[in-house]
Amino acid sequence: MKFESQVVHAGDRKRSRCGPVPSTTPIHLGTTYFYDSAEKLDRIFGQEEQGFSYSRYGNPTNEALEELTTSLEAGDGSLATASGMAALQLAVQAALLDRPHSIVSSNSIYGATVKMFDQIFAPFEVDVTYVDMCDLEAVKSAIEKKKPGCVFTESISNPLMRVAKLDRIAKLSRSAGAAFVVDNTFATPMMLRPLSFGANIVVHSATKYLAGHGDVLGGVVVADQEHIETVRMLSRVVGPVLAPFDAYLTMRGIKTLALRFARQCENAAAVAQWLAKHPKVDRVFHCSDPEHPDAAVIKELFTPNLFSAVVSFEIKDAGKPAILTFMDRLKMIVPGTSLGDVHTLLLYPAMSSHRDISPKMRERMGIHDNLVRLALGIEAIDDVIADLAVALDSV
Ligand SMILES: Cc1ncc(COP(=O)(O)O)c(C=O)c1O
Repeated sequence: MKFESQVVHAGDRKRSRCGPVPSTTPIHLGTTYFYDSAEKLDRIFGQEEQGFSYSRYGNPTNEALEELTTSLEAGDGSLATASGMAALQLAVQAALLDRPHSIVSSNSIYGATVKMFDQIFAPFEVDVTYVDMCDLEAVKSAIEKKKPGCVFTESISNPLMRVAKLDRIAKLSRSAGAAFVVDNTFATPMMLRPLSFGANIVVHSATKYLAGHGDVLGGVVVADQEHIETVRMLSRVVGPVLAPFDAYLTMRGIKTLALRFARQCENAAAVAQWLAKHPKVDRVFHCSDPEHPDAAVIKELFTPNLFSAVVSFEIKDAGKPAILTFMDRLKMIVPGTSLGDVHTLLLYPAMSSHRDISPKMRERMGIHDNLVRLALGIEAIDDVIADLAVALDSV
């Protein structure tokens, strides 16, 4: 099946020739399961036979979503979690189990992931090294020096939209015996499938494009056989699983992912072009830019004609007060955190996603105080542009 059909059909429960339309996957709220013989229950608890026993170990609604995400990311299995961060923690823990407690990570990642490495993993004697993932020589030398158990990157860096050579990094990781973990939230499997370029584990904040409507907090881990078993083992013990109702909403969201994401990417490319010509705008960061520093990698890795749905831009000579005024002037665009929603969202990295990084470090990362990030929704592009035009006029 093509991606557009996969999102609609994979994971659907077509148990009989008649019944409700399969897209209405039942929501199984029961936490405990019983069978007609205790012997069968014993075999299920012992994992000698497939079946449900307790919702922390597995749930039919979640299983349907997991089948769907496994199919979309072309993995061997998947686990739906209560948040993107829970998915990340399980993925990195699974990567590090039985491997050296050392992580080589991209230095351009979501702020909470940095916090997770520094405040949750580092105190347990996990060594963390940050590198520029777009500098292959730097990655190679960090891997050779640190001999990590886990190499981590986001498929598109936030908020500057850099794209690393995933296939080359996967090879470097494999030859060093490290697991390669990729956060594919920004790209979605419609644009990029990291497992097909050699990654071992892919993570999503399902809160974003997968669920897609700003009403679910969730995550997904998709992995190869070796790692999904470990992820499931960890989750069976700790239980950061997605609630069944949210699994249902996420599945329903994914059915329209192809339509939504195509429109969001189209809107992003149009707004990037418009911003590039605006006299009050300095630099624009979007993967559709022919001058993008990673244009060749983008051509190699991305689905043709999709360039992501997030655009960052710098407002000329604007400091924090001017940016806050600009945000207050927006009428339709929502000045909130997150991305992947049907509504266009505008975020100020210095205020939210990168707030905990020191101003000096932010400057070094190229995240200046006049930078804002726009995550396009599915509205009419003329309305998005008109809203931006009025707000920019006020700066
Ligand atoms: C790239 C990326 N990964 C992970 C997360 C964490 O996801 P969640 O908020 O669902 O825990 C976010 C949240 O913004 C994100 O942007």
